[in-house]
Amino acid sequence: MAKSKSVFFCQQCGYESAKWMGQCPACKEWNTFTEEPVLVTGNADKKRSRTGTVANPRAISEIEKDEAARINTGIGELDRVLGGGTVPGSLILVGGDPGIGKSTLLLQVCRNMSGAGYDVLYISGEESLTQIKLRAERIGDFDDRMKLLCETDLDAIEECIVKSHPSCIVIDSIQTMSDPNVSSSPGSVSQVRESTNTLLKIAKTMNITVFIVGHVTKEGTVAGPRVLEHMVDTVLYFEGDRHASYRVLRAVKNRFGSTNEIGVFEMSEQGLIEVDNASAYMLDGRPEGASGSVVVCSMEGTRPILLEIQALIVRTSFGMPRRQAAGADYNRVNLLMAVLERRTGLKLSDCDAYVNLTGGIRVNEPAIDLGMAMAIASGFKNRAIDPGTVVFGEVGLSGEVRSVSQAESRVKEAARMGFKTCIIPKSNASKLTGIQGIEIIGVSSLDEAISYTGN
Ligand code: TYD
Ligand code: MG
Repeated sequence: MAKSKSVFFCQQCGYESAKWMGQCPACKEWNTFTEEPVLVTGNADKKRSRTGTVANPRAISEIEKDEAARINTGIGELDRVLGGGTVPGSLILVGGDPGIGKSTLLLQVCRNMSGAGYDVLYISGEESLTQIKLRAERIGDFDDRMKLLCETDLDAIEECIVKSHPSCIVIDSIQTMSDPNVSSSPGSVSQVRESTNTLLKIAKTMNITVFIVGHVTKEGTVAGPRVLEHMVDTVLYFEGDRHASYRVLRAVKNRFGSTNEIGVFEMSEQGLIEVDNASAYMLDGRPEGASGSVVVCSMEGTRPILLEIQALIVRTSFGMPRRQAAGADYNRVNLLMAVLERRTGLKLSDCDAYVNLTGGIRVNEPAIDLGMAMAIASGFKNRAIDPGTVVFGEVGLSGEVRSVSQAESRVKEAARMGFKTCIIPKSNASKLTGIQGIEIIGVSSLDEAISYTGN
């Protein structure tokens, strides 16, 4: 006998509770619990009957792998982030702020895949067919193998998929989909979770690649894709400044490839364009000979990218110095300023500091420490560093410069981009010989490094 009851879900993280609570015990957010009805069908008393053959456990050596089964999306940057194309039967979640370009990217994926002879189904619950057509016209010509469907009912969607059996489907977006068996409204945690479950079953049983679009909202009014992260195979985040034209696609979870790979795109009039030379893009418009500006090299997955760090240091006019960090970690900036003050004697404690990673990219790698410290020192002394210099290295609390990984590819990227000098940790420098066209300066302490910022 079916009876209905309701439970409370945290709309932020999906924590489930029998009672309403003011603060979520899991994610510590306030006021995020909403009541959602759930249907309990006394399944527990029913004896489960199973049909089909008994599953056979197999040894790893018996299982054949089929690398060729990967399908390329036709967008090189996306393929690399995915680990070399999409794997049939996998679920890929694409998250990001509204208007960042998720629908555009997936429409381009559909265009390429249908052009390569695969059947593709694009299901939109957000836009009408005419709206999608208008967008598609900006992107280019589409093959007839790509079909559009405006539907939010999952039962209808499933029926359509079974009938047409495409190779790839796009769900735009999961927050608009609803499973008629779940009584809560679309976008709620239980609805999003159930819908994803249904899609997971479709993907695995029919061997279809499924792209799912998920919105992220800070307020938690719509269930964020965080709830689904453990259900899907791959989680991609699309980020970037909405006002600037570049976009960064980042893998935060990937069962079929490495994470931390990034793809760089530029939003143009004709949709998203891949940016192959990310360093040139990030350094575009750099002021040469300005104080407080340093070029660093950060590894994004397997790829080195040159970035500019800017630091503006001014005497504080109030008692409390102000510190701001954009793109870099705020606490790391504070720590480096303390180390600089203690170990090199720069009087930074009565200065305001504004540190900015240009290009809007976020970097947490410790390898940018040395560059950040040198930018702060250069900004403090108001002396410019030679613009042909690239800096990287980790800074320890006693002011020592520690080695970083993949120094060789970083130095090579700097040389490729026409830089003349590299200031790097001494322990890395001693192992690097035979790189032509660039002078390598090994430093072992912060004191030594900031002597290159002038006196
Ligand atoms: P969209 O893909 O709709 O974002 P999302 O699905 O993540 O919400 O992208 C919307 C933005 O992209 C919109 O502001 C317009 C811009 N855009 C272009 O600049 N050029 C284009 O060719 C297209 C299709 C969109
Ligand atoms: Mg969209």
